[in-house]
Amino acid sequence: MMDRHLRELLNDQFNKELYSAYLYMDFADYYHNRGLHGFGNWYDVQVQEERDHAMLMRAWMLKRGETIELLPIAKPDKTITDDADPLHFALAHEQYVTGLIHTLHDATEVAGDTDSAKFLDWFVKEQVEEEENATSMIERYDKAVADGTLEALDTELKGRRWKAPSLHVDIF
Ligand SMILES: [Fe+2]
Ligand SMILES: [Fe+2]
Repeated sequence: MMDRHLRELLNDQFNKELYSAYLYMDFADYYHNRGLHGFGNWYDVQVQEERDHAMLMRAWMLKRGETIELLPIAKPDKTITDDADPLHFALAHEQYVTGLIHTLHDATEVAGDTDSAKFLDWFVKEQVEEEENATSMIERYDKAVADGTLEALDTELKGRRWKAPSLHVDIF
């Protein structure tokens, strides 16, 4: 049996990863409607990654014999008024998620659940990458606008493809 508090936090994180997918879908849709299909593609891949994160949480809970409560997924509440907005919202969101993952990791230590701690190590590393990517997107966008090369950057971003996560959890 998993520690009750830890189980609740994992269940919440599963839901929040799905919310992240929803949020990035909102960003992707914004860019596709603006004709910036490369930026749209970038966030479409983010959607898939967030779904992966949720499914890993789910798999971990099922592996441990826990059930997942399927809570409602919140509606993304960000108002986008400028092409740069989603990039800034994304960085702030990833910084927020990093905090949640650290709280979860702390809870594994309090519960003495070293297996869950090891599972979450992957997410700690993943968040470093997520923040790096989000930061670099802002820098690249700003530079492209300054240099008048936004179209070239958009074309480049069309090349991003989904890759299976490096972490795999066997449920049974
Ligand atoms: Fe995530
Ligand atoms: Fe993320």
